[in-house]
Amino acid sequence: MRVGVIGSGYVGLTTAACLAHLGHEVVAADLDSDRVARLNKGDIPILEEGMPKLVADGLASRRLRFVVGAANAARDAELIFICVATPQGDDGAADLSFVEIAAREIAPVLSPGAVVINKSTMPVGSTRFVQRVLHETAGGQLDRVTVASNPEFLREGQAVRDFLNPDRIVIGCDDPEAAVKVGDLYRSVRAPVIVTDPASAEMIKYASNAFLATKISFINAIANLCEEVDADVREVALGMGYDPRIGFQFLHPGPGYGGSCFPKDTSALLYTAQTHGYDFGLLKGVIDVNRNQYDRTVAKIRSAAGGSFEGRVVGAWGLTFKADTDDMRDSPALHILRQVMAEGATVRAYDPAAGEQAENQLPGVVACQDAYEAANGSDVLAVLTEWDEFRWKDFDRILSSMRSASIVDARNLLDPAALRRRGFKYVGIGR
Ligand code: UDX
Repeated sequence: MRVGVIGSGYVGLTTAACLAHLGHEVVAADLDSDRVARLNKGDIPILEEGMPKLVADGLASRRLRFVVGAANAARDAELIFICVATPQGDDGAADLSFVEIAAREIAPVLSPGAVVINKSTMPVGSTRFVQRVLHETAGGQLDRVTVASNPEFLREGQAVRDFLNPDRIVIGCDDPEAAVKVGDLYRSVRAPVIVTDPASAEMIKYASNAFLATKISFINAIANLCEEVDADVREVALGMGYDPRIGFQFLHPGPGYGGSCFPKDTSALLYTAQTHGYDFGLLKGVIDVNRNQYDRTVAKIRSAAGGSFEGRVVGAWGLTFKADTDDMRDSPALHILRQVMAEGATVRAYDPAAGEQAENQLPGVVACQDAYEAANGSDVLAVLTEWDEFRWKDFDRILSSMRSASIVDARNLLDPAALRRRGFKYVGIGR
């Protein structure tokens, strides 16, 4: 099928590359001409396993190409995915202005019978909103154009795998014929397909992310309580997880959830609840626990530094919002380190993937080339992202290079007994 993809960020690029891999002819658009030029050369601007190969294969087979401008991707396409950013507005609501711009740009060029598909996370009502914008813009010239919701459930770092092996495919559309067309795109993918109305499809996405965020805040709250009662949250999570109704996933305590989805989507869902007069206290609690988790982590580092950050050096391992991505959007590490620096500490940070972003995101940080350099001369070493390489460092070398041997492990990544044996003071989460 001929597919247009509007927006070549994480979601758009994954959608475009994977649909080309499935045999469709895909034209993906972006506003940024440099990005488009890079992508057409197979130069991938994000860290995503499997993506370079998929894009290279797509370009070589001519089933994938990148263009500047939404209209150029939508023209001639049977199905058009809207994959632009829906950032969080000041009031917590999702900002649909990029969606509206995209819809206005494609409206005049849509072919008869085209299906426009909302792929980005958009609040309930967005399918109808896009339909309205298209009709307004085209001024009655739209011929059998339908809008559907087909939310993504992609984890960064595993987006290609998640796209090609999804747990489910959700299609929200009032027009059964259009829903079948969207379903046909995924014919070679094995997964249950849920065809429903647009509002339910949109809610499925928000409810799924909010539920996962709830699991994380729940285990973080239990971890905090474990610290008070001398229990070990890892044992607790293990014991809980064997119950298949609970499961093991998303029960890892940490410095709080971050990234481009959970913080934004939980706020947007809360906003939806508020605007509809529903007091979603549970979700408010989830967000509060998450914010407190940043503060609790700062307090642990402060306490390990002797009660104050004045004149102290904090070594930080990890800046991205989780391992195996180079994404630092809404990263707990950044929230935590900004506070640590505001209170007077010097921060020496290392992240395997953050690159030059570190200095932009944390002005004044000492950006280090490796984990040893970050630990060197520090009073406390804080582990903020669960990069696997941190487990395998030479901790004797680290011990002798630190000013004082204290580790705050906000991801429960390291082995406390082994570190204490070496002479470190170790503080984890809920253990
Ligand atoms: C998430 C959803 O998983 C995905 O389905 C959705 O479409 C987009 O949002 P992503 O943001 O890439 O994906 O990351 P995810 O792996 O879900 O982690 C989100 C945050 O939660 C990270 O900061 C991570 O460190 C944290 N987390 C995750 C925990 O603290 N504990 C856990 O047990 C799991």
